Amino acid sequence: MLWGLLLIVTLVLAIWAYSRCYTRHSVNPADYPWLSRALHETPQQMADSVLSQMNVREKLAQLSGDGGDPVLLRLGVNVFVFKQFPNIYAGYNRRLKLPPLSFTDGPRGIVVGQATGFPVAMARGATWDVDLERRVGDALGCEARAAGANYFAGICVNLLRHPGWGRAQETWGEDSFHVGEMAATCVQAVQRHNVMACVKHFAVNSIENSRFYVDVQVDERSLHEVFLPQFKRCVEAGAASIMSAYNKANGDYCGHQRWLLEDVLRQQWGFTGFVSSDWLWGVFDAAKGINAGMDVEMPRAHAYGRALRKAIQRGDVSMTRVDECVRRVLQTRLAFASRPDPEVYARDVLACDQHILLAQEVAERSMVLLENRQHCLPLSGVKTLAVIGELADQPNLGDHGSSRTSPPFVMTLLDGLAEQWDEQHIIYHDGKDVLQAASVAAACDAVVIVAGCYPEDEGENLVSNHKPGPAPKVHKGGDRESLALAPQQSELIRTVGTAQPRSVVVLVGGSAITTCDWRDSVNAIVMAWYPGMMGGRALARLLAGEIDFSGHLPFAWPKADNRLPVFEPFATTARYGYHHGYSWFDETQQQPAYPFGFGLSYSAFRCEGMQLAVQGDALQVTLTVHNDGDRVGQTVVQSYVGSQCAPVPVHRKRLRAFQVVALAAHASVTVQLSIPLQRLQRWCEQRQAWVLDAGDYAVWAGLSSDEASCLAGSVALR
Ligand code: BGC
Repeated sequence: MLWGLLLIVTLVLAIWAYSRCYTRHSVNPADYPWLSRALHETPQQMADSVLSQMNVREKLAQLSGDGGDPVLLRLGVNVFVFKQFPNIYAGYNRRLKLPPLSFTDGPRGIVVGQATGFPVAMARGATWDVDLERRVGDALGCEARAAGANYFAGICVNLLRHPGWGRAQETWGEDSFHVGEMAATCVQAVQRHNVMACVKHFAVNSIENSRFYVDVQVDERSLHEVFLPQFKRCVEAGAASIMSAYNKANGDYCGHQRWLLEDVLRQQWGFTGFVSSDWLWGVFDAAKGINAGMDVEMPRAHAYGRALRKAIQRGDVSMTRVDECVRRVLQTRLAFASRPDPEVYARDVLACDQHILLAQEVAERSMVLLENRQHCLPLSGVKTLAVIGELADQPNLGDHGSSRTSPPFVMTLLDGLAEQWDEQHIIYHDGKDVLQAASVAAACDAVVIVAGCYPEDEGENLVSNHKPGPAPKVHKGGDRESLALAPQQSELIRTVGTAQPRSVVVLVGGSAITTCDWRDSVNAIVMAWYPGMMGGRALARLLAGEIDFSGHLPFAWPKADNRLPVFEPFATTARYGYHHGYSWFDETQQQPAYPFGFGLSYSAFRCEGMQLAVQGDALQVTLTVHNDGDRVGQTVVQSYVGSQCAPVPVHRKRLRAFQVVALAAHASVTVQLSIPLQRLQRWCEQRQAWVLDAGDYAVWAGLSSDEASCLAGSVALR
């Protein structure tokens, strides 16, 4: 009995020690010999020389994560027990002094270590501010290095094709140009710190529940014009790596697709980095993967490794093909390992004061004011404030999947409001007893009701349903089948909103939540997203009017009764078309609840006097922006263009330029948005090329995609 107990304790301790104290390899270029070799060799030469010294075993080891099957144990123990991602390595070779890939996710912060919890990428998309995103990327790069990582898989650029997508929070929005600009900036900022950015999930990955098996049918023009441009933009920005998607596209798994990985990515776009698989079920067949150009299987060898060696012996894979994959991985890694570091990355960079303040600034800039009737906000003159709803009191940073961060603390929305209003003037009620909550609200000067999503409602599907099965179930996260709030939350808002006329709803979530069944019961609606570790303070400062709202929606927000593109979370096949988001609303001539690019402010912005001119290779859109309000503020000027001369049906309009504009009270500024004509091209299937049609183009400029409130004009391109 005693021996049995001792054995169990020893086993548990051994697993714990193995999981937590995995040997950490340095990713500091100074610890490897490549910095000095770079003085007289290019990364290509270094890679060739290393390759020529490798035996087959060493080559194959470059093509999958290190550590074999026990890595799954490490992952499991860390992710499910300690709720934190461990360092996972790939390609370390002591003999040849090769630094490993040291992996970290993710889109809202570094997941290995106690790092800064930033607002989710969708929130950052709502800032439309590339300079701010550059600062976030810089912080992410520094923190990755401080946590011992040099491979960052936080660039998720799949488009929000439907607001029900469970991982909406991980991307920047629905529009390929807007997402591409934000993501490319983040790529460059992260890579400045010798951290390889991994852009994911290539491609058409935007249904979560069936992500492992769904076959997305999509025509070539929609791929090139709608679903791929943001990936291309990241490649142009120098992204080191691409992660293939789990799903199939047009019949084949993306990780086995030569057309995607070779023809488009490498031949057409000139990508020279390496491709890695999505984890565990991203590649199934060594020959298909290697022959398609899928370089690294993550996080451990399953389809590759021994199976790849057998495929080589059978003659299904040539050594030349294997060498190409190894060369790409080495070349990229050595390019990063042979550049001097711009900074020193001490461990105390993780969640340092400067990054925490940045997280707050981003949260403040990202929240979107959707409604503000009868001057409900700012909450000036409010002495006692009721705060209703369990979500106000939750450290809710987003889903519990691969993007889960573990910051040292989280300032909840309630914490922030209590700090701003002084604790004794805040009355909190969890809202479970609706009538009691209503009487608490009625007794105060105003009420803030917090509603929205929990990690159980949306996020990554953590169930390994990698084959379609009968009645599949996703217990945690996954897609949202309804865009409405849970019925109890809607009822809470209606009842409390009726009891207290000065009522604000604060929504928490990664994308649209329909408002029509309670919207008329309240005066103000704020989309707070998953606002990161400093979300509470950011919200409080905005509601109090200390700062202005400046967030603008990175997607079109539907009413409950809009017809949207078909979205079936457990579909085995799905058809993706040419239109979604604002382009879908244009095409189907419906009105969304709030248009793409929309966001209110405490100030009053207005655009005037648009002028259009073609100068050289660019269309110049010039207009004046006025701030007619009494306070300083920021807005986002957007320009949309639609071809009226294409020989095939095209989008009525597409976002082609945007700029954040800050203005003092009663100030004006002239803004020039420059649109390279290349950006107006369409993909011609017959010619297999981008073409620019000569003829008329309609142009709009304004503060959202709503044409009625934009300035309109047209220009002829010869
Ligand atoms: C996700 C990826 C993620 C990977 C590693 C996968 O399940 O789809 O986005 O990077 O896990 O965390």
